[in-house]
Amino acid sequence: MEIIKHFNTDIGEAKNWLENGNVAVFKDFFKKKEINAVKNDAINLGKIICENNTISTIKEVAKIVTKQDKSIQFYNACRELPSFTRFISSEKIINFLKKLMGYELINIPFDFSILRLDSHQNPLTNFDWHQDFPYNVISKNALTIWVPCLESCSEKKTGGLKFSRFSSGKIMTVDSFKIEKSGEPNRLRIANLEKYISKIDDQSESLIEWSMGDLIIFNSLVLHKSIPCVGPDPRFTINFRIGSMSEKEYVEKNMYRARDKYPNYFENAFPDYVVNVKLKKSNSKR
Ligand SMILES: [Fe+2]
Repeated sequence: MEIIKHFNTDIGEAKNWLENGNVAVFKDFFKKKEINAVKNDAINLGKIICENNTISTIKEVAKIVTKQDKSIQFYNACRELPSFTRFISSEKIINFLKKLMGYELINIPFDFSILRLDSHQNPLTNFDWHQDFPYNVISKNALTIWVPCLESCSEKKTGGLKFSRFSSGKIMTVDSFKIEKSGEPNRLRIANLEKYISKIDDQSESLIEWSMGDLIIFNSLVLHKSIPCVGPDPRFTINFRIGSMSEKEYVEKNMYRARDKYPNYFENAFPDYVVNVKLKKSNSKR
């Protein structure tokens, strides 16, 4: 079953595609120079964090930022780079997303936006099947955005992303199974995953080829996982999420920054979807 589709300018069709729990890829949406400002700052940040002035490429940063504490330091510091916040809130992308989704005003949870640097030496953010937390926590319309920042990607070298249509392809895909109660306001890990894994895998499709500057968009509640990097190159991507500021319920209940105010809100709002299970040791905590 097709989940991933490439679009050019037909945003009407893309909106419909996204609302039905699919993945839209807009090829070459960004120019390389638009991304280079972020990339260069990340390299300079790597120099500081790794205390190594000879570093000149992201590949070198990825090789050195392998210890968990250094990785977390790198991820957190990246969020505060003006080039990064400027990129994810640029008029180009915000206007496009507004037009695409018909949102009047968009919100971005900057605190969990991230410059992701995955490599075989640094698997910290290689995640198993999960849904992303919808930052407007009562929204079913939050979107996750990925922008690759290195020239090319292939399964053999840099891994990729896998998506699943399991659970009837509805946006609230959790209707057939339970969310693991984690309290972590970032990812919704799936409880009893082993029970559903073959169905999830069966209905999955991989995104393994992309280029620097592509714009990859999916609803935050679409099941997805990382395909780990196995080759020599890192996977370096800009990751962020957006929502609509003007959803009626969101405004009425004053749910702005609810991820901070009510970190367990999703679980409380959707108790039927949550079970208490013993957490397996996660390979990451940001
Ligand atoms: Fe995710």
